[in-house]
Amino acid sequence: MDYKYLEIAKKIEEQISSSIIKVGEKLPSLRMMSKSFAVSIGTVEQAYGYLEDKELIHSKNRSGYYVLAPLDFSIDSPMESNFESKPQEIKILDLSMQVMSKTQENTPYPLGSAIPDIESRAVKQIHSALRRHAVYIPNHYEGPQGNLDLRRQISKRSLLGGKIYKPEEIIITSGCQESLTIALQVCTGPGDLVAIESPGYYGLLQSLEVLGRRVLEIPVCPDRGMDLDQLESLLQRHNVSALVLNPAYSNPTGHCYSDEHKSQFCHIVSRLDIPLIEDDVFAELGHGFNRPKTIFSFDHQGRVLLCSSFSKSLSQDLRVGWLVPGRYFLKARDYKYASTLGTSSLQQWALADFLQGKQYERHLQSVSINYGKKLCLFKEMIKELFPKETKMTQPKGGYLSWIKLPGSLDSLRLYDLALQQGISITPGRLFSVSPRFNNYIRLNFASLPPEKMHRALTELACLISQAS
Ligand SMILES: Cc1ncc(COP(=O)(O)O)c(C=O)c1O
Repeated sequence: MDYKYLEIAKKIEEQISSSIIKVGEKLPSLRMMSKSFAVSIGTVEQAYGYLEDKELIHSKNRSGYYVLAPLDFSIDSPMESNFESKPQEIKILDLSMQVMSKTQENTPYPLGSAIPDIESRAVKQIHSALRRHAVYIPNHYEGPQGNLDLRRQISKRSLLGGKIYKPEEIIITSGCQESLTIALQVCTGPGDLVAIESPGYYGLLQSLEVLGRRVLEIPVCPDRGMDLDQLESLLQRHNVSALVLNPAYSNPTGHCYSDEHKSQFCHIVSRLDIPLIEDDVFAELGHGFNRPKTIFSFDHQGRVLLCSSFSKSLSQDLRVGWLVPGRYFLKARDYKYASTLGTSSLQQWALADFLQGKQYERHLQSVSINYGKKLCLFKEMIKELFPKETKMTQPKGGYLSWIKLPGSLDSLRLYDLALQQGISITPGRLFSVSPRFNNYIRLNFASLPPEKMHRALTELACLISQAS
Protein backbone atom coordinates (compact mmCIF):
# COMPACT_ATOMS: atom_id res chain seq x y z
CA MET A 1 0.00 0.00 0.00
CA ASP A 2 1.35 3.48 -0.92
CA TYR A 3 1.20 5.83 2.05
CA LYS A 4 3.27 8.53 0.34
CA TYR A 5 0.17 10.71 0.11
CA LEU A 6 -0.24 10.54 3.88
CA GLU A 7 3.36 11.64 4.39
CA ILE A 8 2.74 14.65 2.14
CA ALA A 9 -0.57 15.43 3.82
CA LYS A 10 1.01 15.31 7.29
CA LYS A 11 3.76 17.73 6.21
CA ILE A 12 1.20 20.21 4.94
CA GLU A 13 -0.89 19.71 8.08
CA GLU A 14 2.15 20.60 10.23
CA GLN A 15 2.77 23.70 8.16
CA ILE A 16 -0.84 24.78 8.55
CA SER A 17 -0.88 24.20 12.31
CA SER A 18 2.37 26.12 12.78
CA SER A 19 0.97 28.93 10.54
CA ILE A 20 3.78 28.58 7.99
CA ILE A 21 0.91 28.31 5.51
CA LYS A 22 -1.78 30.71 6.71
CA VAL A 23 -5.58 30.65 6.63
CA GLY A 24 -6.86 31.72 3.21
CA GLU A 25 -3.49 31.11 1.52
CA LYS A 26 -3.30 29.09 -1.65
CA LEU A 27 -1.41 25.78 -1.56
CA PRO A 28 1.22 25.04 -4.23
CA SER A 29 -0.23 23.61 -7.43
CA LEU A 30 -0.51 19.86 -7.96
CA ARG A 31 2.22 20.00 -10.60
CA MET A 32 4.63 21.90 -8.36
CA MET A 33 4.06 19.52 -5.46
CA SER A 34 4.48 16.49 -7.66
CA LYS A 35 7.85 17.83 -8.82
CA SER A 36 9.13 18.78 -5.39
CA PHE A 37 8.11 15.46 -3.76
CA ALA A 38 8.95 13.40 -6.87
CA VAL A 39 5.55 11.70 -6.86
CA SER A 40 2.70 11.49 -9.34
CA ILE A 41 0.04 14.22 -9.56
CA GLY A 42 -2.48 11.56 -8.43
CA THR A 43 -0.57 11.11 -5.14
CA VAL A 44 -0.68 14.86 -4.46
CA GLU A 45 -4.39 14.86 -5.33
CA GLN A 46 -4.89 12.08 -2.79
CA ALA A 47 -3.02 14.11 -0.15
CA TYR A 48 -5.11 17.20 -0.86
CA GLY A 49 -8.27 15.08 -0.85
CA TYR A 50 -7.31 13.75 2.58
CA LEU A 51 -6.85 17.30 3.88
CA GLU A 52 -10.19 18.30 2.35
CA ASP A 53 -11.90 15.44 4.20
CA LYS A 54 -10.30 16.75 7.38
CA GLU A 55 -11.73 20.16 6.50
CA LEU A 56 -8.31 21.82 6.62
CA ILE A 57 -8.34 22.95 2.99
CA HIS A 58 -10.86 23.34 0.20
CA SER A 59 -10.67 23.69 -3.55
CA LYS A 60 -12.15 26.79 -5.15
CA ASN A 61 -13.69 26.76 -8.62
CA ARG A 62 -10.67 25.00 -10.19
CA SER A 63 -8.39 27.87 -9.16
CA GLY A 64 -6.54 25.74 -6.60
CA TYR A 65 -6.58 24.62 -2.96
CA TYR A 66 -6.86 27.07 -0.05
CA VAL A 67 -6.38 26.77 3.70
CA LEU A 68 -9.61 26.94 5.67
CA ALA A 69 -10.15 28.84 8.89
CA PRO A 70 -10.08 26.47 11.87
CA LEU A 71 -13.60 25.94 13.07
CA ASP A 72 -14.59 25.40 16.61
CA PHE A 73 -18.29 24.90 16.38
CA SER A 74 -19.12 22.14 18.73
CA ILE A 75 -22.70 22.29 19.86
CA ASP A 76 -23.88 21.98 23.45
CA SER A 77 -25.04 18.48 24.02
CA PRO A 78 -28.77 18.24 24.75
CA MET A 79 -27.73 15.48 27.17
CA GLU A 80 -25.95 18.05 29.29
CA SER A 81 -29.12 20.08 29.67
CA ASN A 82 -31.86 19.09 32.10
CA PHE A 83 -33.68 16.72 29.90
CA GLU A 84 -35.78 14.15 31.62
CA SER A 85 -37.26 11.48 29.35
CA LYS A 86 -40.87 10.70 30.06
CA PRO A 87 -43.82 9.35 28.07
CA GLN A 88 -45.60 12.15 26.23
CA GLU A 89 -48.57 12.78 23.98
CA ILE A 90 -47.69 14.37 20.62
CA LYS A 91 -49.12 17.67 19.36
CA ILE A 92 -46.96 18.77 16.49
CA LEU A 93 -49.14 18.25 13.43
CA ASP A 94 -50.85 21.67 13.37
CA LEU A 95 -47.61 23.56 13.71
CA SER A 96 -45.82 21.44 11.17
CA MET A 97 -48.71 21.84 8.68
CA GLN A 98 -48.56 25.62 9.13
CA VAL A 99 -44.81 25.68 8.52
CA MET A 100 -45.08 23.30 5.58
CA SER A 101 -47.90 25.23 3.87
CA LYS A 102 -46.13 28.59 4.22
CA THR A 103 -42.87 27.13 2.92
CA GLN A 104 -44.60 25.51 -0.03
CA GLU A 105 -44.72 28.80 -1.89
CA ASN A 106 -41.51 29.05 -3.88
CA THR A 107 -38.97 30.99 -1.90
CA PRO A 108 -35.83 32.32 -3.60
CA TYR A 109 -33.72 31.09 -0.66
CA PRO A 110 -35.03 27.63 0.31
CA LEU A 111 -32.80 26.83 3.29
CA GLY A 112 -35.59 25.10 5.17
CA SER A 113 -36.23 22.14 2.87
CA ALA A 114 -34.48 18.81 3.33
CA ILE A 115 -34.22 18.21 -0.40
CA PRO A 116 -31.24 17.43 -2.63
CA ASP A 117 -29.80 19.39 -5.54
CA ILE A 118 -32.60 18.83 -8.04
CA GLU A 119 -30.61 20.48 -10.85
CA SER A 120 -28.29 17.48 -10.98
CA ARG A 121 -27.63 15.57 -14.21
CA ALA A 122 -29.01 12.40 -12.64
CA VAL A 123 -32.43 14.00 -12.09
CA LYS A 124 -32.50 15.04 -15.76
CA GLN A 125 -31.59 11.46 -16.74
CA ILE A 126 -34.48 10.12 -14.69
CA HIS A 127 -36.83 12.60 -16.28
CA SER A 128 -35.85 11.33 -19.70
CA ALA A 129 -36.36 7.74 -18.49
CA LEU A 130 -39.83 8.82 -17.28
CA ARG A 131 -40.62 10.28 -20.71
CA ARG A 132 -39.42 7.09 -22.43
CA HIS A 133 -41.62 4.89 -20.26
CA ALA A 134 -44.66 7.22 -20.33
CA VAL A 135 -45.69 5.84 -23.76
CA TYR A 136 -46.88 2.62 -22.16
CA ILE A 137 -49.80 2.54 -19.74
CA PRO A 138 -50.27 -0.81 -18.04
CA ASN A 139 -53.74 -2.34 -17.83
CA HIS A 140 -53.17 -3.63 -14.29
CA TYR A 141 -51.87 -2.50 -10.89
CA GLU A 142 -48.18 -3.04 -10.21
CA GLY A 143 -49.05 -4.89 -6.98
CA PRO A 144 -48.27 -4.10 -3.31
CA GLN A 145 -44.67 -5.30 -3.35
CA GLY A 146 -43.73 -3.22 -6.35
CA ASN A 147 -41.78 -3.71 -9.54
CA LEU A 148 -39.45 -6.72 -9.51
CA ASP A 149 -36.71 -5.06 -11.61
CA LEU A 150 -36.57 -2.15 -9.20
CA ARG A 151 -36.48 -4.49 -6.20
CA ARG A 152 -33.60 -6.38 -7.87
CA GLN A 153 -31.66 -3.13 -8.28
CA ILE A 154 -32.31 -2.13 -4.67
CA SER A 155 -31.31 -5.61 -3.51
CA LYS A 156 -28.00 -5.34 -5.45
CA ARG A 157 -27.17 -2.11 -3.65
CA SER A 158 -28.04 -3.55 -0.24
CA LEU A 159 -24.64 -5.23 0.10
CA LEU A 160 -23.08 -1.77 0.42
CA GLY A 161 -24.96 -1.42 3.72
CA GLY A 162 -23.34 -4.61 5.05
CA LYS A 163 -26.05 -7.20 4.38
CA ILE A 164 -27.96 -8.28 1.31
CA TYR A 165 -31.73 -8.29 1.39
CA LYS A 166 -33.41 -10.21 -1.40
CA PRO A 167 -35.94 -8.72 -3.87
CA GLU A 168 -38.68 -10.84 -2.26
CA GLU A 169 -37.98 -9.24 1.14
CA ILE A 170 -38.56 -5.69 -0.17
CA ILE A 171 -41.79 -3.70 -0.39
CA ILE A 172 -41.71 -0.63 -2.62
CA THR A 173 -43.42 2.36 -1.01
CA SER A 174 -44.28 5.92 -1.99
CA GLY A 175 -41.34 7.33 -0.03
CA CYS A 176 -39.60 6.77 3.27
CA GLN A 177 -42.44 8.50 5.11
CA GLU A 178 -44.80 5.74 4.01
CA SER A 179 -42.19 3.10 4.92
CA LEU A 180 -41.98 4.56 8.45
CA THR A 181 -45.75 4.77 8.83
CA ILE A 182 -46.29 1.16 7.70
CA ALA A 183 -43.45 0.01 9.96
CA LEU A 184 -45.04 1.76 12.94
CA GLN A 185 -48.45 0.30 12.13
CA VAL A 186 -47.23 -3.27 11.92
CA CYS A 187 -45.26 -3.39 15.14
CA THR A 188 -47.06 -0.98 17.48
CA GLY A 189 -50.70 -0.33 18.38
CA PRO A 190 -52.81 2.71 19.35
CA GLY A 191 -51.73 4.23 22.67
CA ASP A 192 -48.35 2.40 22.58
CA LEU A 193 -45.18 4.13 23.66
CA VAL A 194 -42.46 4.49 21.00
CA ALA A 195 -38.87 5.52 21.82
CA ILE A 196 -37.38 8.07 19.42
CA GLU A 197 -34.32 10.30 19.12
CA SER A 198 -34.45 13.88 20.39
CA PRO A 199 -33.94 16.07 18.45
CA GLY A 200 -35.51 13.95 15.75
CA TYR A 201 -37.15 14.09 12.33
CA TYR A 202 -40.54 15.81 12.72
CA GLY A 203 -42.20 13.67 10.00
CA LEU A 204 -41.85 10.76 12.38
CA LEU A 205 -43.61 12.74 15.12
CA GLN A 206 -46.41 13.50 12.65
CA SER A 207 -46.95 9.83 11.83
CA LEU A 208 -46.89 8.90 15.50
CA GLU A 209 -49.43 11.60 16.31
CA VAL A 210 -51.81 10.54 13.53
CA LEU A 211 -51.52 6.90 14.59
CA GLY A 212 -52.29 7.82 18.20
CA ARG A 213 -48.95 6.60 19.65
CA ARG A 214 -47.10 8.29 22.51
CA VAL A 215 -43.38 9.04 22.57
CA LEU A 216 -40.44 8.62 24.86
CA GLU A 217 -37.83 11.08 23.63
CA ILE A 218 -34.26 9.89 24.22
CA PRO A 219 -31.55 12.59 24.27
CA VAL A 220 -29.13 12.49 21.35
CA CYS A 221 -25.81 14.20 21.68
CA PRO A 222 -24.86 15.55 18.23
CA ASP A 223 -21.30 14.22 18.40
CA ARG A 224 -21.75 11.04 20.47
CA GLY A 225 -25.31 10.01 19.69
CA MET A 226 -27.40 8.22 22.32
CA ASP A 227 -25.96 7.02 25.55
CA LEU A 228 -26.53 3.26 25.45
CA ASP A 229 -26.78 2.72 29.21
CA GLN A 230 -29.28 5.54 29.49
CA LEU A 231 -31.24 4.11 26.55
CA GLU A 232 -31.41 0.61 27.99
CA SER A 233 -32.44 1.79 31.43
CA LEU A 234 -35.17 4.04 29.96
CA LEU A 235 -36.49 1.24 27.76
CA GLN A 236 -36.56 -1.07 30.76
CA ARG A 237 -38.29 1.44 33.00
CA HIS A 238 -41.04 2.32 30.51
CA ASN A 239 -43.10 -0.18 28.60
CA VAL A 240 -41.84 0.72 25.11
CA SER A 241 -43.22 -1.05 22.01
CA ALA A 242 -40.57 -0.02 19.48
CA LEU A 243 -37.40 2.02 19.05
CA VAL A 244 -36.97 4.27 15.97
CA LEU A 245 -33.50 5.45 14.91
CA ASN A 246 -32.09 7.50 12.05
CA PRO A 247 -28.47 6.36 12.46
CA ALA A 248 -26.75 7.57 9.26
CA TYR A 249 -26.35 11.37 8.96
CA SER A 250 -29.50 11.89 10.95
CA ASN A 251 -32.04 14.65 10.45
CA PRO A 252 -31.41 17.23 11.98
CA THR A 253 -27.99 16.72 13.61
CA GLY A 254 -26.13 14.87 10.83
CA HIS A 255 -24.83 12.43 13.42
CA CYS A 256 -23.63 8.97 12.35
CA TYR A 257 -23.30 6.00 14.74
CA SER A 258 -20.28 3.70 14.89
CA ASP A 259 -20.62 0.01 14.01
CA GLU A 260 -20.08 -0.83 17.68
CA HIS A 261 -23.03 1.38 18.63
CA LYS A 262 -25.20 -0.25 15.93
CA SER A 263 -24.42 -3.73 17.10
CA GLN A 264 -25.23 -2.68 20.69
CA PHE A 265 -28.61 -1.31 19.57
CA CYS A 266 -29.38 -4.80 18.21
CA HIS A 267 -28.36 -6.44 21.50
CA ILE A 268 -30.52 -4.04 23.49
CA VAL A 269 -33.69 -4.55 21.42
CA SER A 270 -33.08 -8.27 21.43
CA ARG A 271 -32.75 -8.37 25.25
CA LEU A 272 -35.97 -6.35 25.58
CA ASP A 273 -37.70 -8.24 22.77
CA ILE A 274 -38.87 -5.15 20.88
CA PRO A 275 -38.58 -4.17 17.18
CA LEU A 276 -36.25 -1.45 15.89
CA ILE A 277 -37.30 0.76 12.98
CA GLU A 278 -34.27 2.06 11.09
CA ASP A 279 -34.57 5.18 8.92
CA ASP A 280 -31.64 4.94 6.49
CA VAL A 281 -32.70 7.67 4.08
CA PHE A 282 -29.50 9.80 4.13
CA ALA A 283 -27.02 6.91 4.26
CA GLU A 284 -25.69 7.20 0.71
CA LEU A 285 -24.67 10.83 1.15
CA GLY A 286 -21.43 10.61 3.16
CA HIS A 287 -18.96 13.40 2.33
CA GLY A 288 -16.23 11.27 0.82
CA PHE A 289 -16.70 8.43 3.29
CA ASN A 290 -17.83 4.86 2.68
CA ARG A 291 -21.53 4.25 3.00
CA PRO A 292 -22.16 3.38 6.66
CA LYS A 293 -23.42 -0.09 7.50
CA THR A 294 -27.07 -0.39 8.43
CA ILE A 295 -28.24 -1.51 11.87
CA PHE A 296 -30.22 -4.02 9.81
CA SER A 297 -26.90 -5.67 8.87
CA PHE A 298 -26.18 -6.46 12.54
CA ASP A 299 -29.58 -8.02 13.17
CA HIS A 300 -29.96 -11.79 12.91
CA GLN A 301 -33.49 -12.05 14.26
CA GLY A 302 -35.55 -10.13 11.69
CA ARG A 303 -36.49 -7.52 14.29
CA VAL A 304 -35.11 -4.50 12.39
CA LEU A 305 -37.47 -2.88 9.87
CA LEU A 306 -35.38 -0.95 7.36
CA CYS A 307 -36.91 2.17 5.76
CA SER A 308 -35.43 4.22 2.93
CA SER A 309 -36.10 6.06 -0.34
CA PHE A 310 -34.55 7.95 -3.25
CA SER A 311 -35.91 11.28 -1.96
CA LYS A 312 -32.67 12.52 -0.38
CA SER A 313 -30.20 11.09 -2.86
CA LEU A 314 -32.09 11.84 -6.12
CA SER A 315 -35.36 13.71 -5.87
CA GLN A 316 -38.16 13.94 -3.32
CA ASP A 317 -40.58 14.27 -6.22
CA LEU A 318 -40.15 10.66 -7.37
CA ARG A 319 -42.06 9.48 -4.29
CA VAL A 320 -40.39 6.09 -4.36
CA GLY A 321 -39.01 4.38 -1.29
CA TRP A 322 -38.81 0.91 0.19
CA LEU A 323 -39.32 -1.07 3.34
CA VAL A 324 -37.61 -4.30 4.39
CA PRO A 325 -39.81 -5.34 7.29
CA GLY A 326 -38.04 -8.55 8.38
CA ARG A 327 -40.30 -10.80 10.42
CA TYR A 328 -43.22 -8.37 9.90
CA PHE A 329 -43.22 -8.88 6.14
CA LEU A 330 -46.72 -10.31 5.61
CA LYS A 331 -48.44 -7.76 7.81
CA ALA A 332 -46.51 -4.91 6.16
CA ARG A 333 -47.45 -6.10 2.68
CA ASP A 334 -51.12 -6.22 3.74
CA TYR A 335 -50.93 -2.64 5.06
CA LYS A 336 -49.33 -1.44 1.82
CA TYR A 337 -51.98 -3.25 -0.20
CA ALA A 338 -54.83 -1.88 1.90
CA SER A 339 -53.60 1.70 1.85
CA THR A 340 -52.51 2.28 -1.79
CA LEU A 341 -52.76 -1.09 -3.65
CA GLY A 342 -49.27 -0.30 -4.89
CA THR A 343 -46.88 2.52 -5.82
CA SER A 344 -47.18 4.08 -9.30
CA SER A 345 -45.57 1.92 -12.02
CA LEU A 346 -44.09 4.68 -14.14
CA GLN A 347 -41.68 5.97 -11.50
CA GLN A 348 -40.64 2.43 -10.66
CA TRP A 349 -39.83 1.52 -14.27
CA ALA A 350 -37.88 4.73 -14.80
CA LEU A 351 -35.87 4.17 -11.62
CA ALA A 352 -35.19 0.51 -12.40
CA ASP A 353 -33.94 1.63 -15.80
CA PHE A 354 -31.78 4.41 -14.34
CA LEU A 355 -30.24 2.17 -11.66
CA GLN A 356 -29.10 -0.40 -14.22
CA GLY A 357 -26.30 1.83 -15.47
CA LYS A 358 -23.46 3.49 -13.61
CA GLN A 359 -25.16 6.91 -13.45
CA TYR A 360 -26.40 6.56 -9.90
CA GLU A 361 -22.97 5.67 -8.53
CA ARG A 362 -21.41 8.58 -10.43
CA HIS A 363 -24.14 10.88 -9.20
CA LEU A 364 -23.58 9.86 -5.56
CA GLN A 365 -19.85 10.40 -5.85
CA SER A 366 -20.25 13.83 -7.33
CA VAL A 367 -22.95 15.08 -4.95
CA SER A 368 -21.13 13.80 -1.88
CA ILE A 369 -17.98 15.71 -2.80
CA ASN A 370 -20.07 18.72 -3.68
CA TYR A 371 -21.99 18.62 -0.37
CA GLY A 372 -18.74 18.27 1.58
CA LYS A 373 -17.32 21.35 -0.12
CA LYS A 374 -20.50 23.31 0.34
CA LEU A 375 -20.44 22.50 4.04
CA CYS A 376 -16.91 23.96 4.37
CA LEU A 377 -17.97 27.18 2.68
CA PHE A 378 -21.18 27.33 4.69
CA LYS A 379 -19.30 27.01 7.98
CA GLU A 380 -16.98 29.81 6.96
CA MET A 381 -20.01 32.00 6.21
CA ILE A 382 -21.68 31.17 9.53
CA LYS A 383 -18.46 32.02 11.30
CA GLU A 384 -18.15 35.29 9.41
CA LEU A 385 -21.80 36.42 9.64
CA PHE A 386 -23.63 34.88 12.62
CA PRO A 387 -23.22 35.96 16.26
CA LYS A 388 -20.09 34.63 17.95
CA GLU A 389 -21.99 32.38 20.35
CA THR A 390 -23.66 30.44 17.48
CA LYS A 391 -23.05 26.70 17.63
CA MET A 392 -23.37 24.21 14.84
CA THR A 393 -23.10 20.44 14.39
CA GLN A 394 -20.41 18.85 12.24
CA PRO A 395 -22.28 16.56 9.83
CA LYS A 396 -20.16 14.05 7.95
CA GLY A 397 -22.85 13.46 5.36
CA GLY A 398 -26.09 14.79 3.91
CA TYR A 399 -26.87 18.49 3.61
CA LEU A 400 -28.48 19.46 6.88
CA SER A 401 -26.97 21.62 9.60
CA TRP A 402 -28.38 21.96 13.11
CA ILE A 403 -27.66 25.38 14.51
CA LYS A 404 -28.06 26.71 18.03
CA LEU A 405 -28.68 30.44 18.15
CA PRO A 406 -27.52 32.58 21.06
CA GLY A 407 -29.74 33.35 24.02
CA SER A 408 -33.40 32.52 24.02
CA LEU A 409 -34.16 33.60 20.48
CA ASP A 410 -37.46 32.14 19.27
CA SER A 411 -36.86 30.33 15.99
CA LEU A 412 -40.57 30.41 15.10
CA ARG A 413 -40.43 34.21 15.13
CA LEU A 414 -37.23 34.12 13.12
CA TYR A 415 -38.95 31.74 10.70
CA ASP A 416 -41.74 34.31 10.07
CA LEU A 417 -39.31 37.21 9.69
CA ALA A 418 -37.10 35.22 7.32
CA LEU A 419 -40.01 34.13 5.16
CA GLN A 420 -40.94 37.79 4.60
CA GLN A 421 -37.46 38.19 3.08
CA GLY A 422 -37.88 35.12 0.85
CA ILE A 423 -35.77 32.83 3.06
CA SER A 424 -37.16 29.56 4.40
CA ILE A 425 -35.65 27.95 7.50
CA THR A 426 -36.88 25.08 9.65
CA PRO A 427 -37.59 26.14 13.24
CA GLY A 428 -36.14 23.88 15.93
CA ARG A 429 -39.52 23.76 17.66
CA LEU A 430 -40.60 21.03 15.22
CA PHE A 431 -37.96 18.53 16.27
CA SER A 432 -39.38 17.64 19.68
CA VAL A 433 -42.73 17.50 21.46
CA SER A 434 -41.34 19.94 24.02
CA PRO A 435 -40.11 23.50 23.31
CA ARG A 436 -36.56 22.34 24.16
CA PHE A 437 -35.11 23.30 20.76
CA ASN A 438 -36.88 26.65 20.33
CA ASN A 439 -33.61 28.49 19.83
CA TYR A 440 -32.35 26.06 17.17
CA ILE A 441 -32.80 26.12 13.42
CA ARG A 442 -32.11 23.54 10.74
CA LEU A 443 -30.63 24.82 7.48
CA ASN A 444 -29.91 23.08 4.19
CA PHE A 445 -26.32 24.10 3.46
CA ALA A 446 -26.28 22.79 -0.11
CA SER A 447 -29.44 24.27 -1.55
CA LEU A 448 -27.87 27.41 -3.03
CA PRO A 449 -24.75 28.43 -4.96
CA PRO A 450 -22.15 30.15 -2.71
CA GLU A 451 -22.94 33.78 -3.64
CA LYS A 452 -26.66 33.30 -3.09
CA MET A 453 -26.01 31.45 0.16
CA HIS A 454 -23.86 34.34 1.36
CA ARG A 455 -26.67 36.79 0.60
CA ALA A 456 -29.25 34.64 2.41
CA LEU A 457 -27.06 34.17 5.48
CA THR A 458 -26.21 37.88 5.61
CA GLU A 459 -29.92 38.68 5.68
CA LEU A 460 -30.61 35.94 8.22
CA ALA A 461 -27.82 37.24 10.46
CA CYS A 462 -29.45 40.71 10.39
CA LEU A 463 -32.80 39.21 11.35
CA ILE A 464 -31.17 37.27 14.18
CA SER A 465 -29.75 40.45 15.68
CA GLN A 466 -33.13 42.20 15.26
CA ALA A 467 -34.99 39.31 16.89
CA SER A 468 -32.50 38.81 19.75
C1 LIG B 1 -35.06 11.39 8.27
C2 LIG B 1 -36.14 11.37 7.24
N1 LIG B 1 -36.87 10.27 7.06
C3 LIG B 1 -37.86 10.21 6.16
C4 LIG B 1 -38.17 11.29 5.38
C5 LIG B 1 -39.29 11.20 4.36
O1 LIG B 1 -38.73 10.83 3.13
P1 LIG B 1 -39.60 10.68 1.80
O2 LIG B 1 -39.60 11.99 1.10
O3 LIG B 1 -38.90 9.60 1.03
O4 LIG B 1 -40.97 10.24 2.20
C6 LIG B 1 -37.46 12.48 5.54
C7 LIG B 1 -37.80 13.70 4.76
O5 LIG B 1 -37.41 14.80 5.07
C8 LIG B 1 -36.40 12.52 6.49
O6 LIG B 1 -35.67 13.62 6.68
